[in-house]
Amino acid sequence: MARVSNLLGSWAEARALDEVDVTRWRAAGHLHDVLRDEEFEVLRERLPPSERDLPGPLLHGPAAAECLRIEGVEDGPLLTAVAWHTVGDPRFGPLGRALYAADFLEPGRSSEPELRARLRARMPDALDAVVLEVARARLGRGLWKGTPILPRSAAFWNRLVEEHS
Ligand SMILES: [Fe+2]
Repeated sequence: MARVSNLLGSWAEARALDEVDVTRWRAAGHLHDVLRDEEFEVLRERLPPSERDLPGPLLHGPAAAECLRIEGVEDGPLLTAVAWHTVGDPRFGPLGRALYAADFLEPGRSSEPELRARLRARMPDALDAVVLEVARARLGRGLWKGTPILPRSAAFWNRLVEEHS
């Protein structure tokens, strides 16, 4: 989480965001995986019924956002970013997109090091174009594995493609 947070902080500073936004971007990095090691069933119980059917590995994002909301966090873009950092969401603004990208590009990940380094080098200037490539890599991997594409992920992909065309 520290690596993702540092990456987000450096991008926020490079985009000349103000101090509050730099803190928000760093906070999203620190918080997004806070429940990643929790049991799936425990996470499921924390979620509203509409989100309980998500596959186990995708539950930690919405559960973390729900905890933050209950604790009084009212920052909608931050909550959306945390909730859907593995799935993608068509509502993502710059913060959601940056977290989605940072989660994939953080230097601690061992697979596809060249792709990740190449995309990292284009950040944060080419945020939207890089996010499209990250989504292509993530969704493409799911397609090859034969896993279902969630409607939210498909809507996110369609939004990115529409913007890019
Ligand atoms: Fe995660």
